[in-house]
Amino acid sequence: MKRVTLKMDVERKKSRIAPEIYGQFSEHLGRCIYDGIYVGENSKIPNEKGIRKDVVDALRQVKLPVLRWPGGCFADEYHWRDGVGAKEKRKPIVNTTWGGVVETNHFGTHEFMELCQQIGCEPYIALNMGSGTVQEAADWIEYMTYDGDSELAGQRKENGQEKPWRLKYLGIGNESWGCGGSMRPEYYADTYRMYHTFCRDLSGNELFPVACGPNGDDYHWTDVIMPLLKDHAKAISLHYYTLPTGEWGHKGSATEFDEKEYYQTVEQTLRMEDILDRHLKIMDYHDPEQKVGLIVDEWGTWCDSEPGTNPCFLYQQNTMRDAIVAGINLNLFNKHSDRIIMANIAQMVNVLQAMILTEGAQMVKTPTYEVFAMYQGHQGATLVDSVIDQQWDGAGGVEVPVLSESVSVTEGEGGKNAVITLSNASLGETYQVAVNLPVNQRFAGKAKISLLTEDAHACNTFENPERVEASVRKEEWSGNRAMVTLPPCSVVSIECGVACDEA
Ligand code: AHR
Repeated sequence: MKRVTLKMDVERKKSRIAPEIYGQFSEHLGRCIYDGIYVGENSKIPNEKGIRKDVVDALRQVKLPVLRWPGGCFADEYHWRDGVGAKEKRKPIVNTTWGGVVETNHFGTHEFMELCQQIGCEPYIALNMGSGTVQEAADWIEYMTYDGDSELAGQRKENGQEKPWRLKYLGIGNESWGCGGSMRPEYYADTYRMYHTFCRDLSGNELFPVACGPNGDDYHWTDVIMPLLKDHAKAISLHYYTLPTGEWGHKGSATEFDEKEYYQTVEQTLRMEDILDRHLKIMDYHDPEQKVGLIVDEWGTWCDSEPGTNPCFLYQQNTMRDAIVAGINLNLFNKHSDRIIMANIAQMVNVLQAMILTEGAQMVKTPTYEVFAMYQGHQGATLVDSVIDQQWDGAGGVEVPVLSESVSVTEGEGGKNAVITLSNASLGETYQVAVNLPVNQRFAGKAKISLLTEDAHACNTFENPERVEASVRKEEWSGNRAMVTLPPCSVVSIECGVACDEA
């Protein structure tokens, strides 16, 4: 066992951690929407207005703040009119991006807004810029948000929604450099500006337009779009996925990997930090006042699809390794919360690094879900200064820094409440962490310590749904030093009170 120090100072406040950093993404892809979320009103699976109750309950428990929809690549072939009105009259289309399967359009705007309402989260809608028109986009916004007597508002009312919905987050195009139209950044920026011109704030609704940002480490994209869009977009989005092997052709299995591939996965995840820093530097160069925020609206592990499943459905199991990936990424986003205003894990149910898996009436919460549950105290809290002695470990020639952390505080009635989240990616080493406060601060009262640790391959299955689950214990913490143990391959969260002496 090695001993390391985590220094934290609850009086050195940094930025507010936007709750939206804990956002998610749902696409008409594989079994995310149908089966995973929407089963229809006549289903035997308990539902409200066709939406699974078990899934909604699970998402409410992690206080899901914002949900992105309808894609992804699907967004740029989605025509919203196909998904409103009587279900039996809705037009079935071919989901050309994701397996050429029939999309019934039974889950459309009304169902998505209903889902957000049941969860209690903000909707984040991605407009079709690739195969849609400016008029179609403007009409959708009017349909959703206009409170007057226009024809489109009338149609919305006829379709069951009297009052307009409130819509804030609006993505204009998705991966416009790729599946969204293979555009050059110059062309995208001009097209964005035209769409943005017609995306009006109606009836007091205020849109928060998000431009399509870069693909991973494509710094050129950011450098070109920023000067052209900084006065037209509130944020740009970044997509970066962790591919275990680092290669698209053979990404690696979600459950079968050796130690080297495990550490490669950690290495690929840690690239996020450099990618964030470099894009933010470019953004700051063009926008020194930092008016434009960064949204990581697709992130997570992308493995080869589970054997025996449709490869276009991107269904993969979720292991303790994914929990480590989530723990690292969320700590990074917290640490960059001065500039990152939202992040959306890909995806919510049954796709990629899923929060939830379903099979018929069964549902399991994945190890990734556990991490979101453990980190939820950070939502809306203030990031404070913290630093840990870094340690390295690896296998097969791959060496990575294994410790990750972030600390936030909220002001409580009797003092400050701190949330400390840590992860240890080492497969062999236990670290005993001395959590140190400055001399004028001390831990006060019981600390609630949640520990998630298992073999890196361990997962929650329908047969054994609770194998990877956090254990919770309470310890009396006092003085300005407390000890916490990080077993190999673990994620820990600590909620504790901190009292500060008057200056
Ligand atoms: O999340 C799956 C796909 O990944 C999305 O549709 C697309 O935006 C990205 O390439």
